Amino acid sequence: MEEKKIKRIGVLTSGGDAPGMNAAVRAVVRTAISTGIECVGIRRGWQGLINSDFRKMDSDSVNHILSRGGTILYTARSDDFMTPEGRDRAVTTCKMLGIDGIIAIGGDGTFRGALELSRLGVPVVGIPATIDNDVGCTHYTIGFDSACNTAIECIDKLRDTMQSHERCSVVEVMGRNAGYLALYVGIAVGATAVLVPERELDFQRDVIERIQDARLAGSTHFMIVVAEGVGRGFAIGKQIQEAIGMEPRVTVLGHIQRGGSPTARDRETATRMGYFAVKAMANGHSNSIIATQHGDIVDIPIEEALQMKKHLQMERYDVLEAVGNLKH
Ligand code: F6P
Repeated sequence: MEEKKIKRIGVLTSGGDAPGMNAAVRAVVRTAISTGIECVGIRRGWQGLINSDFRKMDSDSVNHILSRGGTILYTARSDDFMTPEGRDRAVTTCKMLGIDGIIAIGGDGTFRGALELSRLGVPVVGIPATIDNDVGCTHYTIGFDSACNTAIECIDKLRDTMQSHERCSVVEVMGRNAGYLALYVGIAVGATAVLVPERELDFQRDVIERIQDARLAGSTHFMIVVAEGVGRGFAIGKQIQEAIGMEPRVTVLGHIQRGGSPTARDRETATRMGYFAVKAMANGHSNSIIATQHGDIVDIPIEEALQMKKHLQMERYDVLEAVGNLKH
């Protein structure tokens, strides 16, 4: 059967925002226009598709957004889209607006929604964007590098004061189910210990003994990085106090990590992914997720992509322990 020619696409951002989403939107809109495809911006993610919440996008509508964090299309997590009725309304919006396909920018939850929509006959291409870097099919997700750099900048500042007062600092970073951000940042700041949800916590071994080893090696201040999925930073701080009498200062970096201007890596990756997403859709490779594999951009069928698992590289722990735990 001959592929239907794509004349108009919708683009949306969904789930937690990530620096670089705007760069991806810009690339989608500009690539679409230069390919002879019209583009409609769907606001507030899947919920916007249900509510027919849209804006027309032309080349000017994406001027000056490459360097801006957040998303000009707004984002949301939609419970309605989880229901068959909600998805039927989304399909109706596509028909009413004459949209031939959707480019969805977000994380795993966004792509599960995309799969459901594709099963109702709406072609979809996904672009991975989340600061958690936890999408199985891709080595990299847009926003991760910016979030790491934001966290590093904050922790470097904390280190100044912790070092002056010879204190212990517990820093809670984002990552409900994934420790990529925590581990990467922990290596980059020379943390005394890093706690991630993927590794079962042995408090004595993973925290107390690491502080003791660092102290014996000559350190007088200690940086403990905790992914939020392991437990609250304040609880970890209290446990340290009870175990060895130190009074750690606790900092929760929170949503600061999701904001700010995207780094070069995020702008460049987002722009390439946005370009490839439109080309994939135009060439009949829809119902796929755009991914990076060893630096190359590829597209992977969405069902297959959602089955793929990515494992935290535990050898990074070896690096952390070999390099990070001596005197700072
Ligand atoms: O986008 C991923 C993420 O930032 C997680 O790291 C975090 O647990 C969650 O989103 C926070 O979500 P919300 O913005 O709903 O508080």
